[in-house]
Amino acid sequence: MEKILDIITAKMQQAFAAAGYDASFGRVTVSNRPDLCEYQCNGALSAAKQYKCAPIQIANAVVAQLDAGDYDLVEAVMPGFINLKLSGAFLQKYLEEMRTAPDFGAEKIGVGQTIVVDYGGANVAKPLHIGHLRPAIIGEALKRLYKFLGYNTIGDIHLGDWGLQMGLIIAELQERQPELPYFDPDFTGEYPKEPPFTLSELEEIYPTASSKKTDSVFAEKAHTATYELQQGRAGYRAIWNHIMGISLPDLRRVYDHLDVYYEKWLGESDADPYIPAMVSDLKARGLAVESEGALVIPVAEETDKKEIPPCILVKSDGSSIYATTDLATMVQRMRDWQPDKMLYITDKRQNLHFEQVFRAAKKGCIVNAETELEHVGHGTMNGADGKPFKTRDGGVLRLEQLIKDMTDFVRAKVVENKIVDADEVESTTAKIALAALKYGDLSNQPTKDYNFDLERFAAFEGNTGPYILYTIVRIKSILAKYGAWENLPIAAPANPFAKDLMLSITKFSPTLESALRTSSPNLICAYIYELAGCVNKFYHETRILGEEDETKKAGYIALIGLAKNILETCIHILGFSAPEKM
Ligand code: ARG
Repeated sequence: MEKILDIITAKMQQAFAAAGYDASFGRVTVSNRPDLCEYQCNGALSAAKQYKCAPIQIANAVVAQLDAGDYDLVEAVMPGFINLKLSGAFLQKYLEEMRTAPDFGAEKIGVGQTIVVDYGGANVAKPLHIGHLRPAIIGEALKRLYKFLGYNTIGDIHLGDWGLQMGLIIAELQERQPELPYFDPDFTGEYPKEPPFTLSELEEIYPTASSKKTDSVFAEKAHTATYELQQGRAGYRAIWNHIMGISLPDLRRVYDHLDVYYEKWLGESDADPYIPAMVSDLKARGLAVESEGALVIPVAEETDKKEIPPCILVKSDGSSIYATTDLATMVQRMRDWQPDKMLYITDKRQNLHFEQVFRAAKKGCIVNAETELEHVGHGTMNGADGKPFKTRDGGVLRLEQLIKDMTDFVRAKVVENKIVDADEVESTTAKIALAALKYGDLSNQPTKDYNFDLERFAAFEGNTGPYILYTIVRIKSILAKYGAWENLPIAAPANPFAKDLMLSITKFSPTLESALRTSSPNLICAYIYELAGCVNKFYHETRILGEEDETKKAGYIALIGLAKNILETCIHILGFSAPEKM
């Protein structure tokens, strides 16, 4: 569906032309004086310079050409602004079209395009911690937004499953159980099916091994083990398989809990086979060059304000690094999916890494010249006091613990307020807790840091996820009392509150498009907060179910029904859902 701004801009341009002025002056914007009007056009002011006359003269002539039926207010005011308020009839027609169009008339701007969203970035054998919350939540929301607007989306977790942590675990295991067949280079039998450790043992082995990195002998062993694993040493590969077999289901469980789902569970290891050919190709084409024993791709550009170091491809000891796997992953993605775009969501401390990798990928023709590469570097989630989030003993808080803390807090409220029957406490609690957590995060601009405040995020009032859910639940209960409402047509606004609500509804698709263009799910949060506010204001100022005029009542119901559907669509994009009762 065409956007309102585009419709009224086109009409304004026609009016300029009909009045004898250049149509290009007819651009309409959302009013910056909502107390005076809803939309405005300032074109007469610029036109006056070209036509050398008073702006108000032009504004008056243009206004005379506009179709009065479209507007409740259309006036030229000094020195030459054109102020507009849409008519009820215009809004009624527009909303009725939205109501009956697929996905409320949102334009499918991504049809025919494929995007890979690389988000989450969990590291195998290490439990997810709070640092993994933001990329998972933001990435999932952006992916769903792209999907909603018509893109073919492929979410890939890009597991860290090929690095030093694997070598550390192998080295530690060897110290503990050197007799295991995995360590015997001459072993030719079949390795045991049963892993030599459980999940909780693994969770202890890794941090122990990691703390021994300062011991140079142990560190050397871990590096060698990592290298040999990458070279394909069978026993180490078998341990790697055990680690994956234990770790992945655990990661999946936590992501499921967050309603974060990946189309692909590929990792750095899957990129490994593409490295040798990629490296020799870059070398052959003279793009990768030797520098201090390493092989690098110089990526500095003349216009750089700060120094951008070369992208290291192969270290002097022959091993590949993070950038190597990221480039090789692009090779795999281009080969298998030919995406038009790759979008990465990670901590903003990786900004430089992606700058280097993107430049290297373009320079090395690993991606096409027109393949869009975007990195969203998100800020840090701090504690309520604004300081880095730490457990009481100074450790890193596990993501599961954070989810549990939020869930416990919400459950206590649900139980205390007797919101639902005992058998629904858990499912209702889970939905509210997820909304609190995700909205608390997503309502901030991704690049900014924010403070995690459990009580504030979980409040049922204010700019929170639960408040949005509460509004949806409230509408649902009115609709349920009314009965069948799905086919009721939209009516003209019955009062100013209805009109505000209708105007807010029309911003649905422009909001989604700008959220996509700027990678800002926070715009969707701000939008639904405004929309929910309009719904609640309308509800407080209007007798809905008590209205005796059935036609009027049906109009009210149709309007709040549409508002509910839009709110639910938006929270689905953000990655949470509403319970039946609250
Ligand atoms: N595993 C990485 C980390 O923990 C994040 C991966 C992000 N994605 C990527 N393609 N580099 O920092």
